Amino acid sequence: MMLSSLRIASRRTAVARTSIRAASAWAKIPQGPPVRITEAFKADSFDKKINLGVGAYRDDKGKPYVLPSVRAAEEKVIASRLNKEYAGITGVPEFTKAAAVLAYGADSSALDRLAITQSISGTGALRIGGAFLARHYPGAKTIYIPQPSWANHAAVFKDCGLEVEKYAYYNKDTIGLDYEGMVADINSAPDGSIFLFHACAHNPTGVDPTPEQWKEIEAAVKAKGHHAFFDMAYQGFASGNIHTDAFAVRHFVAEGHNITLSQSFAKNMGLYGERIGAFSVVCADAEERKRVDSQVKILVRPMYSNPPIHGARIAAEILNTPALYDQWLIEVKGMADRIITMRALLKDNLEKLGSKHDWSHITSQIGMFAYTGLTPEQMDQLAKEHSVYATRDGRISVAGITSENVSRLAEAIFKVKG
Ligand SMILES: Cc1ncc(COP(=O)(O)O)c(C=O)c1O
Repeated sequence: MMLSSLRIASRRTAVARTSIRAASAWAKIPQGPPVRITEAFKADSFDKKINLGVGAYRDDKGKPYVLPSVRAAEEKVIASRLNKEYAGITGVPEFTKAAAVLAYGADSSALDRLAITQSISGTGALRIGGAFLARHYPGAKTIYIPQPSWANHAAVFKDCGLEVEKYAYYNKDTIGLDYEGMVADINSAPDGSIFLFHACAHNPTGVDPTPEQWKEIEAAVKAKGHHAFFDMAYQGFASGNIHTDAFAVRHFVAEGHNITLSQSFAKNMGLYGERIGAFSVVCADAEERKRVDSQVKILVRPMYSNPPIHGARIAAEILNTPALYDQWLIEVKGMADRIITMRALLKDNLEKLGSKHDWSHITSQIGMFAYTGLTPEQMDQLAKEHSVYATRDGRISVAGITSENVSRLAEAIFKVKG
């Protein structure tokens, strides 16, 4: 009796509490779209299902990979028992100095006129860059991004207050670069426009200009007085060589462009969740650098005051310790090579099955992603009938392919595409 009357009393209080709640301010907020792949993949109980939608490297067993150089650097950082004081607004200087050398090269003329800040990985660097251009770029506040581009580019730049336009990049028919279209769009944009270029391993297509094409692109950009903003999220991870992958960035700087650059250490160091990156502005001279640096600080301070220190310390330890640096170079190449091998295996398997289709783009593309050329309907069929999950644009993450699942994947693609 006692207990049930107590229950009734507490229920009454609960009712009374809800009834005095104010109407929700969020009542009219619309539901955003679901994250399709993850949910469908999770719901599938087939034990040989394949997830090719993830944007992170997996080892040949399909497992997340922590680089041994990263483990060693992290142990050194922890053993140093450093304090947890705030970093400065632009981050850990040992990290940013080394990140600049990695991107621009040790002998670059840009290094002593470079304003650089640590950032919340590549996305954060793009965000600071977008905000910097929106506030300080003297020309039109429109940024041209490739068609297609990483899905977050348009979202980040729009949220920075920039107008976003597209330039031709991908040719559906050749599953390759629409080089003529790209140069034509560079030429027809108003003088002094902002162009966003993927430095290497274009996401989502895996299609990059050749060095010769980059040289022509640079000449076109210079002739029009455009500003080049490079997004380098995959340095070393694309070809296996940090210098090869930085070709476009270094070529533009050598040709006199005062570029802006976003760097990420998510992929090449596997530091995804540590959120470590950098944004830099090449300036005319040290005096200009000082002014630009002060404005970057004015942008960063109200966003997050100063960046987290742990990932920066790990990356700095690797970049500044010769033995760890050499080890890291080998490990980055190991990741790039596994991806290159999986591309070749997928193509071989498709050809062995008797596919009459030309799959050469699978191996000519570079980086984590491959554009298969499959239609949205064919991608749906892959998911429904073969438990192979990826985005509907036909992009697959090659990092999700393993020696074990590659033949089943090839069979599934063959059944869908022929
Ligand atoms: C082209 C491109 N830019 C930037 C990023 C940013 O990644 P993060 O913020 O994890 O460094 C990615 C990640 O997938 C990317 O593909």
